[in-house]
Amino acid sequence: MALLKRLSRHELPLVPFTLNGEACSGRAGDTVLTAILTQSDRLRLSDFSGDPRAGFCQMGACQDCWVLTSDGGRVRACSTALKPEMSLRTITEPRS
Ligand code: FES
Repeated sequence: MALLKRLSRHELPLVPFTLNGEACSGRAGDTVLTAILTQSDRLRLSDFSGDPRAGFCQMGACQDCWVLTSDGGRVRACSTALKPEMSLRTITEPRS
């Protein structure tokens, strides 16, 4: 179940992306964080506890919202604009 429910901007163009290999879509103007949390109940798992996380500060300061990109990089979901055809992967296993 999605953590966020979109209440407005339903008329904006769809932006297709993949999340953990699944086809998804956000809306133009979404951040990666918004796009993911309107699809999923979490952004990643905590490196320390394994508990679900959904970002914290929402303004690029805490680094609690890293997601992986298909090219091996990572982005802060809260401060990265969603782009068409992004291939994103959330961290689903805590580091050992
Ligand atoms: S939620 Fe804090 S940096 Fe993204």
